Amino acid sequence: MDDIKYNTSHQPEHSRTNYDDQLDYGTPASLSNKQVSLTIDDREITVPEGTSIMRASIMAGINVPKLCATDSLEPFGSCRLCVVEIEGRRGYPASCTTPVADGIKVHTQTAKLADIRRGTMELYISDHPLDCLTCATNGDCELQDMAGAVGLREVRYGYDGENHLKSVKDESNPYFSFDPSKCIVCSRCVRACEETQGTFALTISGRGFESKVAAGVTNFLDSECVSCGACVQACPTATLIEKTVIDHGVPEHSVTTTCAYCGVGCSFNAEMKGEEVVRMVPNKNGGANHGHSCVKGRFAWGYATHQDRITTPMIRKSIKDEWQSVSWEEAINYAASEIKRIEAKYGKDAMGGITSSRCTNEEVYVTQKLVRAVFGTNNVDTCARVCHSPTGYGLKQTIGESAGTQTFDSVMQSDVIMIIGANPTDGHPVFASQMKRRLREGAKLIIADPRAIDLVENTPHIRADYHLNLRPGTNVALISALAHVVVTEGLVKEDFVKERCEWDSFVLWRDFVAKSENSPEALADELGVDANKIRQAARLFATGGNAAIYYGLGVTEHSQGSTTVMGIANLAMATGNVGREGVGINPLRGQNNVQGSCDMGSMPHEYPGYRHVSDPAAKALFEAAWGRPLSDEPGLRIPNMLDLASEGHFKALYCVGEDIVQSDPNTQHVTHALENMECVIVQDLFLNETAMYAHVFFPGASFLEKSGTFTNAERRISPVRRVMAPKNNVGGQGYEDWEITAMMAQALGYKMDYQHASDIMDEIAALTPTFKGVSFAKLDQLGSIQWPCNDDYPTGTPTMHIDEFVRGKGKFFITKYVPTTERVNAKYPLILTTGRILSQYNVGAQTRRTKNVAWHHEDVVEIHPHDANERGIKDGDWIGISSRAGETVLRAQLTERVQAGVIYTTFHHPESGANVITTDNSDWATNCPEFKVTAVQVSRVNQLSDWQLHYKTFSEAQLAFAGRNAEAAKID
Ligand code: SF4
Ligand code: SF4
Ligand code: SF4
Ligand code: FES
Repeated sequence: MDDIKYNTSHQPEHSRTNYDDQLDYGTPASLSNKQVSLTIDDREITVPEGTSIMRASIMAGINVPKLCATDSLEPFGSCRLCVVEIEGRRGYPASCTTPVADGIKVHTQTAKLADIRRGTMELYISDHPLDCLTCATNGDCELQDMAGAVGLREVRYGYDGENHLKSVKDESNPYFSFDPSKCIVCSRCVRACEETQGTFALTISGRGFESKVAAGVTNFLDSECVSCGACVQACPTATLIEKTVIDHGVPEHSVTTTCAYCGVGCSFNAEMKGEEVVRMVPNKNGGANHGHSCVKGRFAWGYATHQDRITTPMIRKSIKDEWQSVSWEEAINYAASEIKRIEAKYGKDAMGGITSSRCTNEEVYVTQKLVRAVFGTNNVDTCARVCHSPTGYGLKQTIGESAGTQTFDSVMQSDVIMIIGANPTDGHPVFASQMKRRLREGAKLIIADPRAIDLVENTPHIRADYHLNLRPGTNVALISALAHVVVTEGLVKEDFVKERCEWDSFVLWRDFVAKSENSPEALADELGVDANKIRQAARLFATGGNAAIYYGLGVTEHSQGSTTVMGIANLAMATGNVGREGVGINPLRGQNNVQGSCDMGSMPHEYPGYRHVSDPAAKALFEAAWGRPLSDEPGLRIPNMLDLASEGHFKALYCVGEDIVQSDPNTQHVTHALENMECVIVQDLFLNETAMYAHVFFPGASFLEKSGTFTNAERRISPVRRVMAPKNNVGGQGYEDWEITAMMAQALGYKMDYQHASDIMDEIAALTPTFKGVSFAKLDQLGSIQWPCNDDYPTGTPTMHIDEFVRGKGKFFITKYVPTTERVNAKYPLILTTGRILSQYNVGAQTRRTKNVAWHHEDVVEIHPHDANERGIKDGDWIGISSRAGETVLRAQLTERVQAGVIYTTFHHPESGANVITTDNSDWATNCPEFKVTAVQVSRVNQLSDWQLHYKTFSEAQLAFAGRNAEAAKID
């Protein structure tokens, strides 16, 4: 390997958070178009009608004191600190609750006002500990600021009277502390929990002096609280405070970056002390989250510095050998020599790469470039294969673009929301909060899901209008039944279809769904859903105003996943629900960069920008740019790579950030395939399940240690900014993940001449029409950009397909229901379906190494009491689950959330072996596994399955080979 140094200066000026943007205007902005002019302290200002006097003052640069107001919440008017005088009006109105009026003259600073404010502050301070100097938020406390702002110098009431100073702290939440002695009962936390998060976990109990904030009946941890942090964010005192701030003190600088977890793509300010993150604060200017967060992004970032991180490159000849820690140069050279050896012996097609949706766009791009241009094959795939590949296929066919059509904000214009096979409050919590807000405003809700997700009837002030609790595997039948009602009851928006869609395809589809075999009555038994309920839901969807569909893996991870996606697009087009705010087809992407990893050419048949590898123009473009001949044959998908490896024909794999052993179906098939390979290179933070079968381990960098971009479920490209140096520092040099891939390329004789991740984005933009206008500089300027971003849409495209579909005319596809071959029978009479939970993320490699385990430390199996009773199973019993693929053992949880005949589990813990039981069945078009339907039997057992016993021994040995003992590798 040549002497290359990829590390560049990593702390450019632009990465710092712009605090002017974070100003608190006290009350939310008014959306009125009508303008009103007034005078405040002799300053003329014109603002939208409905703006509060407080907000207008702050916009004019005048800071009115405030405590109970903050601009993320509706005004409440309880503290009386913000009083003002208005000429010609009596009294001293609160500026936060008083709207502006044309021509009024407002005074914010008079002797009388100063007197009132000092009196108010005096009352607060007389019941507040005077420990400012030792308080964790000293210097970052609104109460302290306000005491200074109103000129409070003494407290006349003394501290001897009745007070709350001895109130007991609630430390039950792992991430934040609640110290009632510091509470001023401003109710910001209660309102944040209601308005921002929509959980309603907090109340003000008692009256007058007795009033206090209460979380449930005992404490925060045992309450309904989901630890989103909104109350902590809203609290103006040190009452609710992050424990990391108590431990480390107030941060001193901040860098804006993007959450590394789910497809919502929340923007955060990483608040730092030196190179140490003190807290992650949601960015109020974040396009996807507008200042909100969930427990993962807000608090669960400690994995980045967890002791389990492997920070040294390692190599070994066989998976039966101990790992040897080596220098970067030795590891890269060893990996490259193995790739060369395998190429010489078995040929290019025996090698490939897998990227992850946890990688940045830039990392995915360089990895697929390495595989195509340097390995010389199109054998590159991504974990979207096992989640949203049917979305890519189905939407490309029908509307011409493999992406969701809307922004998240669009939901605020929806009148009817249909959720199919998704669980937003767990999987996409920040978007769910926004959706819940719209539902509380009155939007109607249809849920199609075998299981009663929280939004069905377990969310305060929300109840689904229709829960279509279909049997797993029958999505296509349901979509046809809904479409049947729309077509046969004259509910099609014919004008829209005539103008925007291929009429011939519509007629074929219309005639197909109109057949009696597709009626709700004909399909009711197969679906297990009352026909009348389906009819009513279809009518509501077609006639209820703006109707939007949100769907998730409950749609895609089926043998007919692509068919359902096309059926969803058919339904949206037939009812005219595409191409404006409030409607659309919205795939909720699971991981942070599912959209981006697909956009970046990480599928074996497509270059970046979804251009087929057999397209001569695309091939010529990339050959010219990359300077290497490229193959026009589509490469292998992940399941094909694994099948061929099992048969002995696929020998080398470069796996970046993906854990196929835990996340792909039929675990034993995956491990057998890996055992058959001669060179498995894993690049990751931890010795994950796949790394236990590897020969080379490249320690990766966490999202806090690198620069790049993620693209969320609404096509929003957001910056990931480096806040600390990579921990994989060996010999004085640590590397970002793209640099490791570039070093591999260089060791294989191909120079990737980038100095910074921004150079990679420049190359992507030059080669990808939908990214033409994207650059790091523009991201700095705009915060985030929704692609397409090009000459026609220089600042991006929030809503797609407005005047015409990307493919020109929308195309209807016939979606014939073909029942899965994975049927129940006497041996396997139940259906297992899977999902995720709020506190854990995907394979759990990150969240299991945080305090989130307080909420979910093991995967359990939900089983209906009827099925449990039949088998003598009680809540908490260990039960064996066997399928045609394998067997595992999990603890039972009896619940009526699941219907009889269906069991449900999550897959966040490797020892659960959820994928030991899932089968090789997959979507006909994309090979996306049929995770959601596995025929199983369950019975009470009292010991682990054979696979689990083997797993335990094997993983302990592998940890020992890496110099870790199993105990040390457990959650801290
Ligand atoms: S905990 Fe904080 S936000 Fe809540 S009422 Fe007390 S001071 Fe206000
Ligand atoms: S952390 Fe979130 S859910 Fe919990 S009480 Fe605070 S606002 Fe409510
Ligand atoms: S909703 Fe998703 S992106 Fe936002 S903080 Fe939570 S995990 Fe991160
Ligand atoms: S800030 Fe207006 S009454 Fe509290």
